[in-house]
Amino acid sequence: PQKIIIDTDPGQDDAAAIMLALGSPEELEVVGICAVAGNVPLALTSRNVRIICELAGRPDMKVYEGASAPIARPLVTAEHVHGKTGLDGTELAEPTMGVQPQHAVDFIIETILREPADTVTLCTLGPLTNIGLALRKAPEIAPRVKRLVMMGGGFFEGGNITPAAEFNIYVDPEAAAMVFASGIPITMMPLDLTHRLLTLEHRVARLKAVGTRPAVALAEMLEFFERFDLEKYGSDGGPLHDPSVIAWLIRPSLFSGRDCNVEIETQSPLTLGMTVVDWWGVSGRAPNASVMRFADDQGFFDLLTERVARL
Ligand code: BDR
Ligand code: CA
Repeated sequence: PQKIIIDTDPGQDDAAAIMLALGSPEELEVVGICAVAGNVPLALTSRNVRIICELAGRPDMKVYEGASAPIARPLVTAEHVHGKTGLDGTELAEPTMGVQPQHAVDFIIETILREPADTVTLCTLGPLTNIGLALRKAPEIAPRVKRLVMMGGGFFEGGNITPAAEFNIYVDPEAAAMVFASGIPITMMPLDLTHRLLTLEHRVARLKAVGTRPAVALAEMLEFFERFDLEKYGSDGGPLHDPSVIAWLIRPSLFSGRDCNVEIETQSPLTLGMTVVDWWGVSGRAPNASVMRFADDQGFFDLLTERVARL
């Protein structure tokens, strides 16, 4: 299996991504999970990661706490999407497992320097703060990272936190800019893709019908998440962003896109956190990311359901 580190700010869709990864041990070995401040503050994202690990039957998972605020700005959160706890929608027991004493940034650095070059993939499901801090502290990790697969950004469809910016990039644009300038091979799952991955009623019902505690809890969380998005997007179901990162690693043939140059706006008050994606190759700047735009959405939900059912 491929070694991955998940960096996350749960978030119901982060929970779906973590469960998809933990349900896929043949393809993925989760070396550790790092919490970062994002959808809710760090104390809650750390708690939520551990709740999900226990729900998935993995209280042995190593969980690390990272940054409690973006590199250069105050934290912006998204309780309006995820609820007060970040995982609203189902009854969840407080976690009994603890966190590792090491800071997430040091865990990321140490793991990448310890493992053979080109063997560890970073999966980011939240703001890129922990990765930005790791790159700043130990720039020598960049050429050793196999790939960074991120949920973040959006271009043709615009943003979801401002007209120009997607939440994960907007929260820490300085960190995102460091990541896109790092030379690490990047796969990007933007809103243009995730808005095609809708939690349609029959999909959530099928997940719930699996009947296991993890599947039912996830279905209930997605129902909560969907309630918000139904009002907002007027679609039948809400976009399920973060599991696309994990699904791409397990079954890349579900997705298609292009290699593009991507730059991050860090200055303009109007377009702060915008991902400027050169889809048409007009800038002459070298591609630095593989940008996914289309997906087999039913195949994606089949995979998610099948793997969560294994937990
Ligand atoms: C991203 O923002 C968060 O609210 C979600 O968990 C996802 O990572 C979507 O813009
Ligand atoms: Ca997230």
